[in-house]
Amino acid sequence: MGRAVVILDFDVRPNRKPLSHTDRQALLSAPVFGKVFTDHMITLRWDAERGWHDGRLEEFQSIALPPSASVFHYGQEIFEGMKAYRQQGGSIALFRPERNAARFNASARRLAMPEIPVETFVRAIELLVRQDRQWVPHGAGTSLYLRPFMIATEPTLGFTLPSRSYLFCVIACPASAYFSTRTGPPALTVWLSQEYARAASGGTGAAKAGGNYAAAFLAQREAVDRGCDQVVWLDAVEHTWVEEMGGMNLCFVQQSAADEPASLMTPALTGTLLPGVTRDSLLQLSGRLGLGRSEGRINVQQWRKQCEAGQITEVFACGTAAVIAPVGRVRGASDEWTIGDGRPGPVTMRLRDELLGIQYGRIPDDLGWTRIV
Ligand code: COI
Repeated sequence: MGRAVVILDFDVRPNRKPLSHTDRQALLSAPVFGKVFTDHMITLRWDAERGWHDGRLEEFQSIALPPSASVFHYGQEIFEGMKAYRQQGGSIALFRPERNAARFNASARRLAMPEIPVETFVRAIELLVRQDRQWVPHGAGTSLYLRPFMIATEPTLGFTLPSRSYLFCVIACPASAYFSTRTGPPALTVWLSQEYARAASGGTGAAKAGGNYAAAFLAQREAVDRGCDQVVWLDAVEHTWVEEMGGMNLCFVQQSAADEPASLMTPALTGTLLPGVTRDSLLQLSGRLGLGRSEGRINVQQWRKQCEAGQITEVFACGTAAVIAPVGRVRGASDEWTIGDGRPGPVTMRLRDELLGIQYGRIPDDLGWTRIV
């Protein structure tokens, strides 16, 4: 596993019938997240004998697998979420792709899958973005969302050892805001899931594994049934410590006294929540905006009390797809409260502007986070 062979070459076989310019422009004018995909995809295979091999850029198409392929039975699958942003001058930039590659490999280790050389991962992403550059939208708040993933392909029901063959694939879809209104990001209402848990110590919570998301749908549907946008996961032991929102991390803006600077607090990476690239970027950006920062822990009672005392003034979710989504209201089985005035707060919006400014090239990237493709 994890043989360190760097494959920098992919066999490029462009689609002979790409979508026409007019049809593509129609789709790009209002891209809906995850529904329409670009003309091409990347595939790369691994097996125990050859390591990584057979890299291709080819037409977006169905994947043929035997029904006995291990992924269908034991869910050995990991993925990433990243974006390519159209810059002001028309060029295209990726945001911290090496971080996604490193997290992908951390997920691979946890799921007993082969690691992919970081250079190969980034090269695959760049190749697809270059080939499908016409698909990177120009509109405000739009981007090309990239979804690298890996599945176990060995045709076996055996459960003695992990699969001995894998498929790595990258697909891409034009995207606009994950949560949106015409006037900017809405404030979400979130549901506190006290019945279910997302991850426990020693489990796969820190990995971006499909199984974590599969197990989250029930509580997410409960959230929607209760009139909420997203589920907030609490710890698996006491069901009171705030962890994350499944597809996004959570950040709290705390103001201990009126003459103190506001501070950004986010649940610490205890092994049960996902180490978000956006989360990490915001922690780093907070200092530039004169904010304190900490990685700590907060329980549901503290969340409510600090909101009522004006010590938590804003809360937001952050992730690649969601960017920064303000949270305005919290609902539990027997409890409900509003954060601030229930609307997107100023610190949230400043952080959002700063992050998007760097991603879209409006603000100089002195942190070296963007990579022009
Ligand atoms: C992302 O933000 O990229 C994710 O993978 C979250 C997913 C729920 C859309």
